[in-house]
Formats: sequence, structure tokens, C-alpha cells
Amino acid sequence: MKKREIIFATANQDKLHEIRMILDDLGVSVISLKEAGITTEIVEDGETFEDNAIIKARTIMRETGKITLADDSGLEVDFLNKEPGVYSARYCGRDTSYRIKNRNILERMTDVPDEKRSARFVCAVALAIPAGCIPGILKETVRTVRGTMEGRIGYEEKGEHGFGYDPIFYLPEYGCYSGELLPEKKNEISHRGKALRLMKEVLEGYGL
Ligand code: IMP
Repeated sequence: MKKREIIFATANQDKLHEIRMILDDLGVSVISLKEAGITTEIVEDGETFEDNAIIKARTIMRETGKITLADDSGLEVDFLNKEPGVYSARYCGRDTSYRIKNRNILERMTDVPDEKRSARFVCAVALAIPAGCIPGILKETVRTVRGTMEGRIGYEEKGEHGFGYDPIFYLPEYGCYSGELLPEKKNEISHRGKALRLMKEVLEGYGL
């Protein structure tokens, strides 16, 4: 029997690959926005990661009538009042390189002692289910989960792996920077990996 298609609202192939691996043994097949033929630009103007994930999932679900997942993630630095937060991709300007974004954060953290350098990566994943699409779900339904990876802002940029803020994110538990983790290890401990595994349990709860 053909598996039910659900959409993961992302254009990012790496995220799609990761979610397909995690949801592999469920009875659904995950398709991208491109595969669903969607080109809609979505304005992510929420105040929280959950808000933005819901905005994306709900917009695409209403447009397609299909069950839709979406995520939103970023870095929270406690000393900087949780900046860059939901503005992580837009910090210092969307087109500014991560080398510059990362150096800017390191500069703002100059002379800040270890115990005040705490930070975390956060990932919220939202699920939007259209009314009547699953037995017993009579109205449009939205669920969210959140995963975090705790660490602190380091004093330099390190590592050849990962992307974004990984080179300045130090993991005391592992004695290395996030940018030094191999992809499999990062998926195992990352905010996104944790959130996606929690979402898998939610999907299983709906019999998907
Ligand atoms: P989005 O969830 O794709 O909108 O990504 C938000 C931004 O958060 C990314 O562009 C990165 O700047 C940052 N970010 C999210 N997850 C990670 C990560 O695992 N490592 C490094 N940066 C990340």
C-alpha cells in the first residue's frame, strides 16, 4: 500500500534527509515543498520558535490540505538576553556571512567569564493536521515539540563540520565545539535530532 504523504515545510535538503532517516519506520513518506509543488514565500514574524514553526506548518497545510511539519531553530545566548534567538538567520543581516556573525558574538562576549557564557540551540517542530484527515480529528489541529542542546559560547571559532553558529558553540560535556562533531554524533545530541524524535512519538500517537 502506498504510504500517506506528509509535507516537511523546508527547502533545506539536509533537514529533509535527517527527518527522513528519523521517521523511516513510520507509515508515512515525507515530501519537501518542492516535491509538493509549493513555492509560497512565508513570512516568519513570530516571537518564538514555536510561533514560527506553527506559521509555516499551518500555512502549507491550509494550502495543500495535507498533514504538514515545519521547524524553526536558532541560538539563545543568556548574557545577550537570549539573542539572536528567532533572529538567528537574520542576525547582522541575512546575507552577512557566519564568520562575521560569529565574530560579532565573540566580540560582545569579550571578558565575560565562563559561568556567564551559557547558551543553547533550540529547535521547535510543529505538526499541522487538517480537519477530518485522521479518524477522530474533527478540527484543524496543531502540535509542537521542542528540543535543546545546552552549551556555552567559546572564545574562538573551531571545527570544520556543521554550519551557522556551530564553530563558536562549546559543549563542556564533550570537551569540544559543536563544529568539531561528526554529523552522526551531532544528530544524536542536537536540538533538531531531539525535537524530531519527540515529533515521531506524536505522529505515532496519531497512528501515522
Ligand atoms: P532555520 O531554523 O532554518 O530558520 O535556522 C535558523 C538559524 O539558526 C540558522 O540559520 C542558524 O543560524 C541557526 N542554527 C540553527 N540550528 C543550528 C545548528 O545546529 N548549528 C548552527 N547554527 C544553527
